[in-house]
Amino acid sequence: MAEDAILGYLATHEEIPDSGQFASQHGLQHNDVVNVIKSLHGFRYIDAQDIKRESWVLTDEGKKYAAEGSPEVQLFLAIPPEGSISKDELQKKLDPSVFKIGCSQAGKNKWVDMGKQVSRKVQHVEDKVKDLLIRIQDGQAIGKDDINSLKARKLIVAQTWKGYSVRKGPNYAPKRKKVATDLTRENLQRGDWKELEFKEYNFNAKGPPAEAGHLHPLLKVKQQLKNIFLQMGFEEMPTNNFVESSFWNFDALFQPQQHPARDSHDTFFMEAPSTTRELPEDYVELVKRVHESGGYGSRGYMYDWKREEANKNLLRTHTTAVSTRMLYALAKQPFTPKRYFSIDRVFRNESVDRTHLAEFHQIEGLVCDWGLTLGDLIGVLNDFFSRLGMSKLRFKPAYNPYTEPSMEIFSYHEGLKKWVEIGNSGMFRPEMLLPMGFPEDVRVIAWGLSLERPTMILYGVDNIRDLFGHKVDLSLIKRNPICRLGIN
Ligand code: PHE
Repeated sequence: MAEDAILGYLATHEEIPDSGQFASQHGLQHNDVVNVIKSLHGFRYIDAQDIKRESWVLTDEGKKYAAEGSPEVQLFLAIPPEGSISKDELQKKLDPSVFKIGCSQAGKNKWVDMGKQVSRKVQHVEDKVKDLLIRIQDGQAIGKDDINSLKARKLIVAQTWKGYSVRKGPNYAPKRKKVATDLTRENLQRGDWKELEFKEYNFNAKGPPAEAGHLHPLLKVKQQLKNIFLQMGFEEMPTNNFVESSFWNFDALFQPQQHPARDSHDTFFMEAPSTTRELPEDYVELVKRVHESGGYGSRGYMYDWKREEANKNLLRTHTTAVSTRMLYALAKQPFTPKRYFSIDRVFRNESVDRTHLAEFHQIEGLVCDWGLTLGDLIGVLNDFFSRLGMSKLRFKPAYNPYTEPSMEIFSYHEGLKKWVEIGNSGMFRPEMLLPMGFPEDVRVIAWGLSLERPTMILYGVDNIRDLFGHKVDLSLIKRNPICRLGIN
């Protein structure tokens, strides 16, 4: 309708000077006219110029008075023409806001006598406010003073009106031709392609954004760490077994069976299969002995070691279980020094909060060589962490059942201006290494840290649940930068 009106009008007129007036003259909605103008302009049937005008529109309150009359007139009409009415009585007859505003405006206009009794002072009043509001509603112009007083009473607000002036365009026709967008098989069969007009290609149109794969921040930081380990000559350990036996996760690490970490409050035990099928029997015997009565210069833990406890399957609680298997395999061969690393998932029965999840990733590195010392460990840690951009490290004595000495690793965080704990480390105990069959003067230094911690610092994520798990906002992954420099 609007389209026919516009194209038809331009057939006999040079210009539509104002789309707003055009719409009201033709009984059309301005919105519809604007949409048609945009579309006809796109196909160059018409040329359109923007018009902007400051105009006034009624507020909700203004609309109400335009329909029902101003409060002062409503109040005036509620007073009997002769005699008077008590103020209480009058108040009951009117809406509270109409009464309040009506009293003050009618008083200002000197229309009424206000006391305990209220009476009219004049015989007749005109609702100028209502008339002005209606004129504004109809798009008519009103005087400056009137505008100011309505504005002061918050009955009108300024609005920018947008419309167009329109002329014929280069492709003008009184009726829009339907252009074909595709050449179909039917067109070819019928032969009507000869008459059809085809829509021109728009080579400037932007295609839909190409979808591509995105890497999760954890994967990127993991790759960064992997590169560091590889540069330092470390080999990656096979970590593709989330399910582990208690034996490899704890017993082989000289972690006693009563240790609280071996409780179901801390560790997820498997229901099915609940136990492991096989363990290296000779080695199990040696591990049992070192727990029960020690050896290699140790007194052991002096308790009754139970095979059933070692057989229990669990979700590995640390990647040190993998390191243990690797060391066991290494010890079976004539000794050669090795550097191993792993980065993979571990599981702990933790209550989930801003910084803890029941599953996370551990980064672990270990070096085995003849005669290593704590100094070597500190040196390797300084090298490793400075490659991550953390060159100020401090160490604090700690305890792990499988390392002695053990050290927590702290790094000075330049942003937070404080020391933050970033990992744990130590030298594996003889009670762990000697039953495996390592020569006595082979030492193993090792350290572990979470992958989530540096990633959160790097990507400015302060709640781990925003980084990993079902609550992650996928756009975080799509938005994150391809690479970063430094890690702290
Ligand atoms: N396994 C330890 C942990 O879970 C980390 C660690 C690895 C500590 C190697 C010392 C040596 O935190």
